[in-house]
Amino acid sequence: MQRIYLDNNATTPLLPEVFEAMRPFYLEHYGNASSIHQQGQQARAAVDHARESIARMLHCRAAEVVFTSGGTESDNLALFGVLAPGDHMITSTIEHHAILHAAHSLESRGVEVTYVPVNAQGIVEPETLLAALKPNTRLVSIMYANNETGAIQPIDALAAIAHAGDALFHTDAVQAGGKLPLDVSPHGILKHADMLTLSGHKIFAPKGTGILYVRRNVRLSPMFHGGSHERQRRAGTENVPGIVGLGKAAELCTEWLKTDGPAKLAALRDRLEQGILSQIDETGVNSAGAPRVANTTSIYFDHVEAEALLIALDLKGLSVSGGSACQSGASEPSHVLTAMGLSATRARATLRFSLSKLTTAAEIDEVLKILPAAVAHLRALSPTYKKTTVSV
Ligand SMILES: Cc1ncc(COP(=O)(O)O)c(C=O)c1O
Repeated sequence: MQRIYLDNNATTPLLPEVFEAMRPFYLEHYGNASSIHQQGQQARAAVDHARESIARMLHCRAAEVVFTSGGTESDNLALFGVLAPGDHMITSTIEHHAILHAAHSLESRGVEVTYVPVNAQGIVEPETLLAALKPNTRLVSIMYANNETGAIQPIDALAAIAHAGDALFHTDAVQAGGKLPLDVSPHGILKHADMLTLSGHKIFAPKGTGILYVRRNVRLSPMFHGGSHERQRRAGTENVPGIVGLGKAAELCTEWLKTDGPAKLAALRDRLEQGILSQIDETGVNSAGAPRVANTTSIYFDHVEAEALLIALDLKGLSVSGGSACQSGASEPSHVLTAMGLSATRARATLRFSLSKLTTAAEIDEVLKILPAAVAHLRALSPTYKKTTVSV
């Protein structure tokens, strides 16, 4: 059975070009980038090249890029790196747990945290942020695009408010990477971002790679203590092959965003969405009224347990996710969807479909064949659905 993979917000496959770029750095050029000899210098040159590629993607200086082990580390570094007891931080209720759990930990160390709510579309309204600012607000951290709904935050306005309040602004751009242009230059939408998180495995690079962009004037305390790697901001021997892969993936993303690829991807996502809504009743799109990244749709199927539907679809060769993949195994409804005001029942009836540039129209058509039957099968077992259909 040929599988259809629509879980690209959980992780993307490694592109063959990325793998080929990395291969020599495992087998031949295995030097430590801190070594003085030739093999060390080769590794250093490769790390520098990758740093330049990321800098071109973000329109920043190479020295502002800090390589990390991924999105979780970058988010933690941004928060722990600038906050101290007595500081106030603002974040939102729909952040990834890499931010929310780091914030909880900071609370236990004397940092005051405000979790601002979102509206029914999953958007942080600028006035809500403005009202939450305090004289001691040191950091505002709001994600760029949400991993579950794809909703894009009004990042420019939010960051401007943070700066007007003399606070630093960090954005978790893990789900925006490779989907939206990321421009931290004075002309870019992210011109007020002081720090920005990216994760490699969401943009066709290997797992365990990522970066934190740190604007030149931001003083960041390292979380790890050891060598003076990454300009004293992240100690530890560089993951040279991973960094090379991340650099290559960044180059490919930068090129792809300039093509008609994003528009084609949005058209495929819309075809999937409209096909589902027209063929299956009592369904709806979460964050439908918000700007969204082109690859993501979060859809509720009332009278169905998403977990049961996910398993049924898996058996038919389709990989999707219910809410956030990082939470699989937990029975709690998604904190993102409940923060938007969805009932726990509707949140538990939601599936996330996340496409990529590798998704084809034939795959979407196949999903539209598989899905209605799977939903109908589960609804036939649901007492609430039967009641509803009788009353219609
Ligand atoms: C929005 C967001 N932030 C952070 C992360 C964590 O990134 P990583 O898996 O690289 O640690 C994820 C992963 O799903 C994410 O979606």
